[in-house]
Parts: sequence; structure tokens; C-alpha cells
Amino acid sequence: MTIDLDPTTTPETAATAPVRTAVKRTVLMCKPDYFTVVYRINPWMDPAIPTDTSLAVAQWQTLYDTYIGLGFDVHLVDPIDGLPDMVYAANGGFVIDNIAYGAAFTYPERQPEGPAYMDWFRDNGFDVRVPVEINEGEGDFLLVGDVILAGTGFRSASNSHEEVSAIYGRPVITLNLVNPSFYHLDTAVAVLDDTNIAYLPSAFDEQSLAVLRERYPDAIIVTEEDAAILGLNSYSDGYNVVIAARAKDFERQLRERGYNPIGVDLSELLLGGGGVKCCTLELRR
Ligand code: ARG
Repeated sequence: MTIDLDPTTTPETAATAPVRTAVKRTVLMCKPDYFTVVYRINPWMDPAIPTDTSLAVAQWQTLYDTYIGLGFDVHLVDPIDGLPDMVYAANGGFVIDNIAYGAAFTYPERQPEGPAYMDWFRDNGFDVRVPVEINEGEGDFLLVGDVILAGTGFRSASNSHEEVSAIYGRPVITLNLVNPSFYHLDTAVAVLDDTNIAYLPSAFDEQSLAVLRERYPDAIIVTEEDAAILGLNSYSDGYNVVIAARAKDFERQLRERGYNPIGVDLSELLLGGGGVKCCTLELRR
């Protein structure tokens, strides 16, 4: 009798998860030195609940340190006193091919962040495109391979999807968000690599859900519980996926599929309605 020792042909390994590959990321972050909640522009925010800025800074630091530990190139934009939401760097723009499409915020409280981020892009050698349409950057625009998923419904105007399509010359897929708690696309979709995503079905209208099901039949579907702590608001390098520490089912599903979930606790920044991804803007040269 011969025993087949070739691991590639055993039934056990055939059933194991695919091999994932980490790709080094370059990101922009903003330290929450002036973080607080003094206005309410999403259901997570309640100015009556006290915030602890030093705890926010300490938690943010663990995210920063995690990225450094993963070998990421992390750039920093200076926080500005009076702009408490500037920590959510994802909203500062959308950057592909060294072109930085600037943000034009929905609410007046955040509007000064648009020019502040555009100044940083300019000073750091990016080709800045000043936006015409209302948009909140990578909060609503997510690159998956060659395709741009674009959210609308609460923040970015659907006209901004056309603007992005014209600037980058890539397919842009509009997705309609319907739950005010998941007001940015990056609270309802996580990009895992060039072909895989995770999402929360109830955050989308029927039409958008049909698009997601058709394009990503193998997507991870997260639980309402995990989504309710902004568990989807995560950042992946293709193998390591930095997620909310409390998103346990998402963690399990990621592991099953060969990813390496890394939990961080950003509970203080959740009081502003943001998590891991909100604090992270990818810079693609
Ligand atoms: N307080 C901020 C706002 O409502 C949170 C932004 C979260 N950012 C994100 N990319 N989802 O605008």
C-alpha cells in the first residue's frame, strides 16, 4: 500500500483556506489631539456623552503602532484645533495613481478639512484635483482591484461618482446606503484584497444588494452585531486585516478564509462614529 504524502492532494488541505498575500501599504493618518464630540452629524455622536481625548490618542496610537509593525509606510497630517473629526483621515480624499481627489464635506462642521487635506497632498507631491461635487473621500469610495465602489445616500453626492469616474477612468459602481448608522460606504463594506470584500446586506437598497451579490458571490457577510460596533470598518493589506477587537464573528470568518485578523480597540473613536478604516487613508502612488 502507498500513502500519498503530497500535501496538495490530500482532502484535508483541499478544504483549507487559500493562501493570502500581504502587500505593503502606504497610508495617511491624523492624530486625534483635538478629538471630541461637540456636534452630531451621525447617529453615533452624542455631545452629551463625555469623551476622553487622551484615551482616544492612546487607542489611535495602538492602530498606528500596528500599522508600523506590519511594515506600512505611515504618513501624518497635522491635526487642527477646532476640527475634532480630522482624525477620520479616510474622509480627507481619495488617492489613486498619485492623483488626489479632494473632499468636499456635506456638513459645515467638517468643511475646512477639505482644503487642509488638499494642502497636505500638494505639499507631498500629489496631483490634487479640487472637487466640484460633495464627497467624503475614501469614506465613500473604495477601490477593489480595478473597480471603484462608490457609496451615496447620506454623504457623497451621486454626481461625485461621475466626477471620480472621469478623473480615474475606471469603472465606478454606485451603491445606495439606506441605514443612517452606516452612512459611509466604509462602514458597510470592507475591502479584503483585489477580489474579495465583506459587507452588511441590510445597509443597502435592493438594487445595490443585487449588484453586490452578483459581483461578489463569495463575500463575507458580517453579522448585525459585528456591524453595530463598526466591525466592517477595517483595513486589510491582503493578508493582515486590522479590525475592531470586539468583532468576533468577523474575526472567525476572516481566519477561516486564510486572512490574519488583528483586533484593535478604538472605543473612544466610535463615539464619533468611526473605526479603523475611518482613521486610515490609503495613498496609492
Ligand atoms: N464624525 C465623523 C462624521 O460623521 C465620522 C467619520 C467616519 N469616517 C468614515 N470614513 N466612516 O463625519
